[in-house]
Amino acid sequence: MTEKKRWYESVVPPGAAAPQEIDTSVPHIARIYDYWLGGKDNFAVDREAGERAAEANPALYEGVRGNRAFLARSVRYLAAEAGIRQFLDIGTGIPTANNTHEVAQSVAPGSRVVYVDNDPIVLSHARALLTSTTGPTAYIDADARETAKVLAEAAATLDFSEPVAVMLVAILHCVTDEDDPYRLVATLMDAMPPGSYLTLTHPTQDFQPDTTNEMLSRLNAMMPQRITFRTRDQVVRFFDGLDLVEPGVVRIPDWRPESEADTANPAEMWGGVARKA
Ligand SMILES: C[S@@+](CC[C@H](N)C(=O)[O-])C[C@H]1O[C@@H](n2cnc3c(N)ncnc32)[C@H](O)[C@@H]1O
Repeated sequence: MTEKKRWYESVVPPGAAAPQEIDTSVPHIARIYDYWLGGKDNFAVDREAGERAAEANPALYEGVRGNRAFLARSVRYLAAEAGIRQFLDIGTGIPTANNTHEVAQSVAPGSRVVYVDNDPIVLSHARALLTSTTGPTAYIDADARETAKVLAEAAATLDFSEPVAVMLVAILHCVTDEDDPYRLVATLMDAMPPGSYLTLTHPTQDFQPDTTNEMLSRLNAMMPQRITFRTRDQVVRFFDGLDLVEPGVVRIPDWRPESEADTANPAEMWGGVARKA
């Protein structure tokens, strides 16, 4: 059974190409993630896939909240302590609490933010995302693997002669080794000026291999998109050539926690922030 939603007439940004229809017959990672976060923008297939994955690893529900908390902490760090005023957030997700522009612009109201995602349901929220801003903010409907398109369109909002924080938060597990995620990250960072940052989180099987591998195989059996978990060494490689900010690549609850709840989060993800010299 499918639930069809006609959404795009009213939400497509002016000038954008006609979007893909939202396909409710197969689960999508953006909508499964929304379900795990307690959101409402998901369909029966997403809920079923999300539940089956979480049966293998129930800590997942808390873990995704830990990822959102990392995102907010890292953006606050970048805006308040590192003085960053431009953010390129790739793999935006369906809007939820503490979206990147809200956190960045609460610290520095004029901050420029460009969001990128390739899921039509995220595009359907682009207008809502862009109305609550206090600085130039844009949304690009693109696949992260099309780095030339992402960079060309982002240049309409971001000034690439000034530092930019490139955010790849919980997205690179959606890029398979065949699609060379290391090349993707290097291409983006090569285009950024010195003083720019890379912020990245990535799910891993390092902590509880049995449960996380079971969760991974369930997800991959249900979704058309393939997910890859990576080890700490593989995640550290994304930061090659960059200077890691303390405490380096750590389990995300251990990245500059601001509360006991941050520290206690069971997220099984590596994360870090690094600066381009
Ligand atoms: C798990 S969600 C993470 C959302 C947000 N970054 C966060 O950490 O809360 C992953 C997002 O990446 C998007 N995504 C996956 N593969 C992508 C690709 N190749 N290009 C652009 N976006 C992609 C999905 O549509 C989804 O919205």
